[in-house]
Amino acid sequence: MALALKSEQDHFKYDQVSSYIMQLIDKGTLKPGDRAPSLRKLSSSLKVSISTINQAYLSLEDKGVLSARPQSGFYINAQLNPSIATPKPIITAGYQPRKVRFGQLFEEVFTISNNPQIAPFAAARPSMELMPEKALLRETRGILSRHPAACLDYCFPPGHLKLRSQIALQYAKIGLSLSADDIIITNGATEALSLALQTVAKRGDIIAVESPTYFSVLRVIEKLGMLALEIDSNPQTGVDIESFEYALDTMDIKAILLVPNFNNPTGSLMPENNKKQLVELLNSQQIPLIEDDVYGDLYFSGERPCIAKCYDTENRVLSCSSFSKTLAPGYRMGWITGGRYHEKLLEWKQASSSASPSIQQLAIAEFLRSGQYDRHLTRLRKAFRSQVEKARYMISRLFPEGTRISDPQGGFVLWVELPRNINCFEVYTEALQHNIGITPGMLFSATRKFKNYIRINCGFPWTPATEQALEQLAALINKLNIA
Ligand SMILES: Cc1ncc(COP(=O)(O)O)c(C=O)c1O
Repeated sequence: MALALKSEQDHFKYDQVSSYIMQLIDKGTLKPGDRAPSLRKLSSSLKVSISTINQAYLSLEDKGVLSARPQSGFYINAQLNPSIATPKPIITAGYQPRKVRFGQLFEEVFTISNNPQIAPFAAARPSMELMPEKALLRETRGILSRHPAACLDYCFPPGHLKLRSQIALQYAKIGLSLSADDIIITNGATEALSLALQTVAKRGDIIAVESPTYFSVLRVIEKLGMLALEIDSNPQTGVDIESFEYALDTMDIKAILLVPNFNNPTGSLMPENNKKQLVELLNSQQIPLIEDDVYGDLYFSGERPCIAKCYDTENRVLSCSSFSKTLAPGYRMGWITGGRYHEKLLEWKQASSSASPSIQQLAIAEFLRSGQYDRHLTRLRKAFRSQVEKARYMISRLFPEGTRISDPQGGFVLWVELPRNINCFEVYTEALQHNIGITPGMLFSATRKFKNYIRINCGFPWTPATEQALEQLAALINKLNIA
């Protein structure tokens, strides 16, 4: 490639480099979230000096087109799409607790996600390409050869001290002072959430959840015979405290279950003050809060958000998380810190699955201790941010007019509101026939709301094949829109 730079004068050259980059953006060759060509590469292909390219990039940064990321280069800004509308908050007329009843669809969404032939927009899963496979396997092999007996032996609850100590240290970074003794290792966050529900409620009890809510939580509520009370939430800021206040005043709610940081599917982030207010409200009524923080480490900018437990003066918050979204979903390593419910949680853990896998606990503990986890997170956050930004951009260009797209500040899923006449189940079945997976919106509600919504997983680096799959999905949706 060679750019025919028209002027020999240096101060014109960088203008021409800038407009060259702008043209690539206009044509869609460079999309929001993409890394701009490196200074060195562009300098050699355009035959201009590195300092000219740098000057051009800095001027594009001033105009808000690019942003520099330390040690990583320049990226096309998502703010290039200021006009993308986000999903409208839904306002429900009256709240009512419901039994949850899922059919086959629930299992199917997971089954299709196991099939590598199907484009991976269904389950909320990170690509293994982004995981530190080699480094983690090196730690795993090292642990196995140094401590074979400990690896093969049972590790009964609360789990391995080395891992619990490392998790406590991670909490210390957000100002939460916990000891290893406050933490119980579980088989993924799913087991942690299930133990929390069993500990604080029983069959027939009402559990308030935000709406939309992660469907596996609804499944656990279903299987435990509890009732889900869906509380409207804002796609940007999560649940609204007044709605909770009203629900708590009018119904006998046993517990609340939320994802305050980067909810799945909306990506909403509860402002810190709302977390604090909610914990105060619940403490005043002695109601436990179960929080799920599996996406908390995946913030796109600024500082890691705190968790509700940071504001828990009465030890009534049960905080669950895992390494499934950040490190190794297959290792099934999660945990819970349950405050005043700790002893009861231990009983349920023993009854539920007793020990958790030993090798994985020791390997992850070492991965954290050596500082590799924090370095890996820095890279992972950048990757997810650019994947999400690029998906937003492509969806905004390809999907029918009237489509609204969430604007998450962390995590890696997008919540897409389609025009009202489009049914998400039809989108799901049509897409599947073309080997494309998506999650239909109705799974995120016990009352099957969100019929014109879909969730798109952006945990995978974009490739020509996945871009093509998204284009094909858009074509199917456009067809359904006119049918
Ligand atoms: C909000 C939320 N919680 C929990 C999980 C499940 O976590 P794990 O695989 O650790 O059980 C997921 C996975 O999609 C999730 O999105």
